[in-house]
Amino acid sequence: MLNFNMSKIVYIHTFGCQMNVHDSEKMLGVLQKEGYSSTDDPCKADLIIFNTCSIRQKAEQKFYTQLGRTKFLKKKKPEMKIAVAGCIAQHEGENIFKKALYVDFVFGPQNIHMLRDLVSERTASIAIEDNHEIAVTDLPVKRGDGVKAWVTIMYGCNNFCSYCIVPYTRGRERSRPTENIYSEVAELAEVGYKEITLLGQNVNSYSSDTDFPGLLKKLDRVGGIERIRFVTSHPKDLSDELIAAMSDLPKVCEHIHLPMQSGSSNILRLMNRGYTYEEYIRKVMRLRAKVPGISITSDIIAGFPGETEDDHLLTIKALKEIEFDGIFAFKFSPRPGTMAAAMVGHLIEVIKSERLSEILKVQDGITTRKNRSLEGTIQEIIIEGDGETDKEKLTGRTRTNKIVNIPKINPETSSGQKGAIINVEITKGRPHSLEGRPVEK
Ligand code: SAH
Ligand code: SF4
Ligand code: F3S
Repeated sequence: MLNFNMSKIVYIHTFGCQMNVHDSEKMLGVLQKEGYSSTDDPCKADLIIFNTCSIRQKAEQKFYTQLGRTKFLKKKKPEMKIAVAGCIAQHEGENIFKKALYVDFVFGPQNIHMLRDLVSERTASIAIEDNHEIAVTDLPVKRGDGVKAWVTIMYGCNNFCSYCIVPYTRGRERSRPTENIYSEVAELAEVGYKEITLLGQNVNSYSSDTDFPGLLKKLDRVGGIERIRFVTSHPKDLSDELIAAMSDLPKVCEHIHLPMQSGSSNILRLMNRGYTYEEYIRKVMRLRAKVPGISITSDIIAGFPGETEDDHLLTIKALKEIEFDGIFAFKFSPRPGTMAAAMVGHLIEVIKSERLSEILKVQDGITTRKNRSLEGTIQEIIIEGDGETDKEKLTGRTRTNKIVNIPKINPETSSGQKGAIINVEITKGRPHSLEGRPVEK
């Protein structure tokens, strides 16, 4: 007998940023309503979705390698559907079908709501329209964690930094109504979530019924939520009001990710970033004066077109002067259709690689030194679960977003459980994490 209620299984492979990870949670939310459950094993799936990233060429290559592998899976199981979503889907559109004939459907980040129709289509289909309604039509979300949750506050980006593909893949900036965000956060608190991270390409330019500091003020009042974080902040829009909100609101954590990109004002101008190095460092100083103990992390691009050795040395000097708590650094990768891809003065790979290694080396020394300076201090952490590498340990994060591994606490006690908020003494500062031991509150 045929069973029409038989549940289907989806495997989602996510590449790229937190926004994509959260989009995958939305895809799962939509599909769950259609009777799907999820798996970690692509061989068991009826539907495979690649949620892709096109920020750098390497990210694209990783996806195409994975996509190639599914060709054989599909040969063995022809009824299996393969979908391509995310930023490559948006940018490439129909070209995906030309590159891989076995792809069944393609949909962009603004078309996740269309998944319920796409899964039932019998012919190859595509959905990459720029959806202006996206900010108000909330999708169901299937979250896994139970302690930390991502909450979208805005979509798209209007900044057109000259190297960046995001404004072309995510469309124009749209802010989600404050009321919708508030209700989502209140619901998360009700089911036990302790920490939220507000997501947007440039949260500082959030503008709806209130501005970003106003939104933080509202969310700070949600009972049950203990910590509020946000990514990403654009330096040009970092206002004194936001700094005051970070300083005054108890739940807003003492951490900001503030991508600098370069220490040379000349390169920053070519990047169309809208600030000089001097303006950037003034904001860093203001943050440090008003929010004691704040940790500041950043993104750096090595080898932008036209970057001279002197420009590069200005970036090295800036790293030493500012002393970030951590950075993500990347070699410049030309993205088709962006301004920078068409600029003169592209550098050869070896120079980009040399500059990147120098940047990473200087920063590693700084990060390790900063982590060591925390030895002996007491920090509050929320336990997130077992350690990544050592299952005999528990792991959590400080308010400043640093990872702390501690010995296992008796899981029968409340402080030994996921979601517990405990104080720890830092016993060791390592290059990428801290070690600690629990102490009385
Ligand atoms: N909206 C965020 C960042 C989005 S992308 C912001 O404005 O800060 C994350 C990081 O990827 C960027 O900060 C930048 O450092 C890096 N990046 C973006 N495009 C790149 C490119 N073409 N080549 C190398 N790095 C890039
Ligand atoms: Fe890209 Fe700049 Fe927008 Fe960030 S602010 S997403 S780097 S264009
Ligand atoms: Fe994110 Fe990559 Fe798109 S960084 S916004 S998934 S290009």
